[in-house]
Amino acid sequence: MSYKKILLCLDSDPQPSVFDGVVAVDAGVDHLFRHGGVTPEGVRDLVYGAMFTRGPADLKNTAVFIGGSNVEEDEKLLAKVRECFFGPMRVSVMLDSNGANTTAAAAVLCAMKHLKPSPFGRGQGEGALAGVAATVLAATGAVGRRVVRLLAREGANIHVASRQLGRAQQVCDSVKRTCEHAQLTAFESRNADSTQAAVDGASVVIAAGAPEAELLSDDLRRQCKSLKVAIDLNAVPPAGIGGVGPQDKAVERDGQICYGAIGVGGLKMRLHKAAIRRLFESNDAVLDAEEIFALGADL
Ligand SMILES: NC(=O)c1ccc[n+]([C@@H]2O[C@H](COP(=O)([O-])OP(=O)(O)OC[C@H]3O[C@@H](n4cnc5c(N)ncnc54)[C@H](OP(=O)(O)O)[C@@H]3O)[C@@H](O)[C@H]2O)c1
Repeated sequence: MSYKKILLCLDSDPQPSVFDGVVAVDAGVDHLFRHGGVTPEGVRDLVYGAMFTRGPADLKNTAVFIGGSNVEEDEKLLAKVRECFFGPMRVSVMLDSNGANTTAAAAVLCAMKHLKPSPFGRGQGEGALAGVAATVLAATGAVGRRVVRLLAREGANIHVASRQLGRAQQVCDSVKRTCEHAQLTAFESRNADSTQAAVDGASVVIAAGAPEAELLSDDLRRQCKSLKVAIDLNAVPPAGIGGVGPQDKAVERDGQICYGAIGVGGLKMRLHKAAIRRLFESNDAVLDAEEIFALGADL
């Protein structure tokens, strides 16, 4: 008997994401079982329904997708899903709250195309971005936190910026807990002077701010002579990085390689679909930011 591919979508928002549903169908899923307003307490019975209906050999045809706009809530859902599994009784699961994992992975992969480890870094071979100076603006959002995590694992030396220094420090502390060698410094980026200090010396800036928020002006971007790569993830004008167009995809501006949100979006979509397809190759995959980032090497 050939089984249909079923994706159980657990969303912490009241309505499950239409975007995630469409991408799943485009990636080859046959049936979506979509649930909104899912709480950690509600996870167990939903997942049991998915994992006790097919034999272990056929469970690779069932998978779980966790989405929602609150990454912390969604991380709790992921933890609860994993608690349900035992022995061969498990299904693959992917977390991509508001596209944070796929977007962050795509942004870092774009940056890596243009950057080499620094000879003054913490050592060649310790990550593709060893010693590269990076600044993440609005590093406190769902996407920004993941960008910091992925850059840190690749060995970058990161300025973690927020309008509030304390919030930037919280991101540093949390990333340090999972990546003990991370080289992170918290910065405030509240106005032109503090933002200039945050980007000073950076080879790459990734702006992960909310829609309509300019984080780095065109003037400051041009003045930043160390800057080789500028990546803006905000698609809604005004741009998060002045002078970077939303459709920019490795466009050179003032000697800097620029990417806008739509320019990064193509790779993000390919990664999202590749990750969904990966779910149905086995019944034991757990796809968070790092695993989704690793899939990018094959694209
Ligand atoms: N290209 C793609 O495919 C794609 C996919 C998903 C998301 N995105 C975009 O990626 C960006 C980040 O997403 P997200 O969900 O992480 O965003 P978010 O949580 O809404 O906001 C991220 C951060 O932006 C800062 N911020 C909020 N309002 C601001 C304001 N008025 N002025 C300056 N800074 C402000 C805040 O940081 P502080 O308070 O710490 O300063 C906040 O933590 C968004 O623009 C989103 O649309 C793009």
